[in-house]
Amino acid sequence: MSNKSLAKTPDETCILVTGGAGFIGSHTCVELLEQGYSVVVVDDLSNSSQVALDRVRRITGTDVADQMHRLVFHKASILDRQALDQIFAEHSIDAIIHFAGFKAVGESVSKPLEYYWNNIAGTLVLCDVARGHGVKNIVFSSSATVYGEPEFIPITEDCPKHTATNPYGQTKSMLEQILTDLYVGDNEWNVVLLRYFNPIGAHESGLIGEDPKGIPNNLVPYVAKVAVGKLEAVGVFGNDYPTPDGTGVRDYIHVVDLARGHVAALNWMGGKVGTGKAIGLGSLAGTPAEDGTRRGVGIFNLGTGTGSSVLDVIKAFSAACGKELPYVIKPRRAGDIATNYAACDKARTELGWVAEYDLDRMCQDSWRWQSRNPDGYATAQ
Ligand code: UFG
Repeated sequence: MSNKSLAKTPDETCILVTGGAGFIGSHTCVELLEQGYSVVVVDDLSNSSQVALDRVRRITGTDVADQMHRLVFHKASILDRQALDQIFAEHSIDAIIHFAGFKAVGESVSKPLEYYWNNIAGTLVLCDVARGHGVKNIVFSSSATVYGEPEFIPITEDCPKHTATNPYGQTKSMLEQILTDLYVGDNEWNVVLLRYFNPIGAHESGLIGEDPKGIPNNLVPYVAKVAVGKLEAVGVFGNDYPTPDGTGVRDYIHVVDLARGHVAALNWMGGKVGTGKAIGLGSLAGTPAEDGTRRGVGIFNLGTGTGSSVLDVIKAFSAACGKELPYVIKPRRAGDIATNYAACDKARTELGWVAEYDLDRMCQDSWRWQSRNPDGYATAQ
């Protein structure tokens, strides 16, 4: 069966967003709706809340009765073949943005079976059902984790991949390979792998943001909980790295910029931006289809190109919330690397996308979300 064409306008295009109630997913729904796309969200709510989607409707005005059809929600797991099949039968889906997956690095070490099952098997079921309905356009939520200990910095897309140190990272790397092989086996597939650096921040409305369960594993959600008085002090994992201030350096990217990167990827898949020359790696540079849409595997880093240390983040967040946030130096965390930031030239030239927001803005938006929703979505109306 041939692939659905993306050679049309957003208001004629319907995107399936798996994991659309989650942190990056909900922000991407906002950007898609604002560009005129119809959105079908599939989410099992295992690590997200439906309130996020109510908030997405509030931000985008899609709660107006006659626009309800532009954002549809189905509570289902991507492992549920029957449910997916029904969703594809019910909606004329053109492309998939695939976020759904477990994502906690530490937890993945103690629950490898759950991680491989949910992330890998779930994606296989999703792709198989999609293919059965003639949908072979997919944007995949990958991670800078696939570079492992990077061979060079800033990291370009052709920096060699290294074995991930945990099952979560392995699933990202394996899924990149699986999606690439789908294209190799059937040149109708149109695949984009987006390698995210460190997404933080929140929508400027303060209505949607990151809402981790329990004690946060990641730096900024932890800092935000300290700022709001729910945790005592930030633990800084190591101050003896070979970096300017000794603490780990990362490429933090505003989640709204990241979400816009997905819209840019859809435009690119539809042949609306870019030269097409920089597609994929080597032989995976697909030949465009007759309608001008792309075929192949496009790989892009989504970051800002700027590295910030743990202490830079604490400082910027302190300025955003108006008080000095306490921190204590702790031992290094196993598996962490010293420095990680992206080269973003490929996304700029091909997708026509650049990150706009700086660290101060990310922390301001993150603080607005956290201070207005100290319990996340738990007690939200
Ligand atoms: N850090 C602290 N204290 C904390 C949490 C983190 O000092 O409480 C430090 C870490 O050591 C690191 C930096 O803050 O130097 C960022 O850590 P995060 O946990 O926020 O992010 P990571 O870079 O470790 O993880 C991110 C993504 C993962 C992905 C990984 C590798 O969250 O999904 O990058 O690319 F796997």
